Amino acid sequence: MISKAPTPDDRAPVITIDGPSGSGKGTISRRLAGTLGWHYLDSGALYRLLACAALRDGIALDDASGLAALAERINGDFGVSPSGTECVWLDEEDVTARLRTEECGNAASKLATLPEVRAALLAWQRRHRRTPGLVADGRDMGTVVFPDALLKIFLTASPEERARRRYNQLKDNGNKVILDEILEDTRARDLRDRTRKTAPLEPAKDAFMLDNGGQEVAETLAIILQRLQTIG
Ligand code: DC
Repeated sequence: MISKAPTPDDRAPVITIDGPSGSGKGTISRRLAGTLGWHYLDSGALYRLLACAALRDGIALDDASGLAALAERINGDFGVSPSGTECVWLDEEDVTARLRTEECGNAASKLATLPEVRAALLAWQRRHRRTPGLVADGRDMGTVVFPDALLKIFLTASPEERARRRYNQLKDNGNKVILDEILEDTRARDLRDRTRKTAPLEPAKDAFMLDNGGQEVAETLAIILQRLQTIG
């Protein structure tokens, strides 16, 4: 993938935050990166970006070689708009809102099962490792992409709670959604992410397991920062 990510630093510390959809990884990771003044990698957005390009170009979500070739040629860029919000561009087109739809999320989960796709996106993800540090969020950050991370967190919450969070998020963004359908999607995506052969969603052996069900973001963040202090 062509991107404007600058030169990486393999010695920069990394904190990985893995977990299923709706576990709050995105919110916690962004806040943690902001608190520490570190960089942030939303690896799911990368899979979504490729899914978005595949849907645009009519490439089947099980066409491994077609998708790997697509990953090489698309021009993806992550940045901040003049008003300060996060933006994602695909070949110069602003796809920020489209990336967050259930259509893109489900398509991303499907193409993410293909080893060829995961291999094509690996180097791109590692290029985000930069000083003073990186907070990386995804499914396999601690197991595959950054196995030497300083701290690995595996964030969970019940499927019902995660579906409710997704539902509120989508509704707030103006989407028409039905809670039962979101719960069904959440369960189907969990199953696909957990049972795929390559880099399945599973905690790294040295991950700190954190169930954030019923917790405020600040509480979860405080637990992670405390953990960081004990090893730092
Ligand atoms: O975190 P997310 O919902 O934006 O991710 C979308 C899909 O991308 C998810 O269902 C699985 C896939 N994904 C992955 O396989 N590995 C990652 N590191 C990140 C996301």
